[in-house]
Amino acid sequence: MNITRLRADTPSCESYVHFNNAGASPAPEPVHQAVLRHLELERQIGGYAAQEAAEWDLAAFYTEAAALIGAETEEIAFVENATRAWDLAFYGLAFEPGDHVLTHGSEYVSNYLALLHRAKTSGIRIELVPSDASGQVDVAALEAMITPQTKLIALTHVPANNGLVNPAETVGAVAGRHGIPYLLDACQSVGQLDVDVRKLGCDMLCATGRKYLRAPRGTGFLYVRSGFIDKLEPPFVDLRSADWTAPAAYTLKATAQRFETWERHVAGQIGLTEAIRYARGIGMPVIEARISDLANALRAQIADIPGATVHDLGHRRCGIVTFLLPSEDAVQTAARLKSAGIMVSVASQGLGRLDYEASELTALVRASLHYFNDDEDIFRFMSTLK
Ligand SMILES: Cc1ncc(COP(=O)(O)O)c(C=O)c1O
Repeated sequence: MNITRLRADTPSCESYVHFNNAGASPAPEPVHQAVLRHLELERQIGGYAAQEAAEWDLAAFYTEAAALIGAETEEIAFVENATRAWDLAFYGLAFEPGDHVLTHGSEYVSNYLALLHRAKTSGIRIELVPSDASGQVDVAALEAMITPQTKLIALTHVPANNGLVNPAETVGAVAGRHGIPYLLDACQSVGQLDVDVRKLGCDMLCATGRKYLRAPRGTGFLYVRSGFIDKLEPPFVDLRSADWTAPAAYTLKATAQRFETWERHVAGQIGLTEAIRYARGIGMPVIEARISDLANALRAQIADIPGATVHDLGHRRCGIVTFLLPSEDAVQTAARLKSAGIMVSVASQGLGRLDYEASELTALVRASLHYFNDDEDIFRFMSTLK
């Protein structure tokens, strides 16, 4: 991979060292330009005419997103973020009081809040599958917990606050064997890992634009397996998701577009399309391998600092590196790195609520690498850290 060219595509890489890709990655130049071009067109000819002119770019979103995750175009819906995409699927499921949902301590905070909400409003029971010794979801325990009341398995592939990669494919095989709907939060994995929905065996998957895909904020998408689309009742309906066929009748769109709204961030959708095209141009297997190599190198060097602790769990780890230094709290370390132009984030939301392993922790430094990082970035990071 030609890192120099990729860095040149991201002018902010000249001034800042970005280790915040699990939060918001800087957009590559072609993505930035595509968004600006559309905003300029909107200013000149107005939003509606600009949207018409962008018809092909908007249609390309579905083919690009589908190709990225091994899906079909009709299985993709444009949604403003991963949380809403997850919600559209989750709130589309019909539950009876007493139905179980199986999930894991690494589930994303907002998803868990929605589960709690439906425990209150629909009477579902949330069952937490334990972790195995490595900290990832224990798949054997999950299978043993399945009963006739189990109506959903909800898993986060890569959690927000950890380098853990949950064994989503093995969970998918279990879900498939038992015929249980499987909702995968792939917010941190799409754009980072070579995600393939058929291999994962998920029925529903949510993704965001702004993280590893390097797209604008306020963009994301939902995948729903074609044979599963009819099993969901969209929680909202509008003139994009349905056709008004008679004064008292409507027909839902046959595709995943039944989960979309008519009004949207058109420039954002174009930016997301361009970002997916950019990632696919590099190649997801190449991206995944490079991120993993860089993160493993950083993890090893941090672990060598006396007293430093690395908190990533699981058998398989990704580009997110979480740690603490002995002499500082996470906020102090992040501030010190930021003052040296190194952008990291502090992971605190949800820590200690569900993860047994993390129960004593209140905050961690989260350094998340992307393919445009290199050994020099790691050297600068480590010099500042020490
Ligand atoms: C694992 C995971 N799921 C979902 C989300 C929510 O994504 P969005 O902010 O696009 O709704 C995040 C955001 O940090 C996340 O890390």
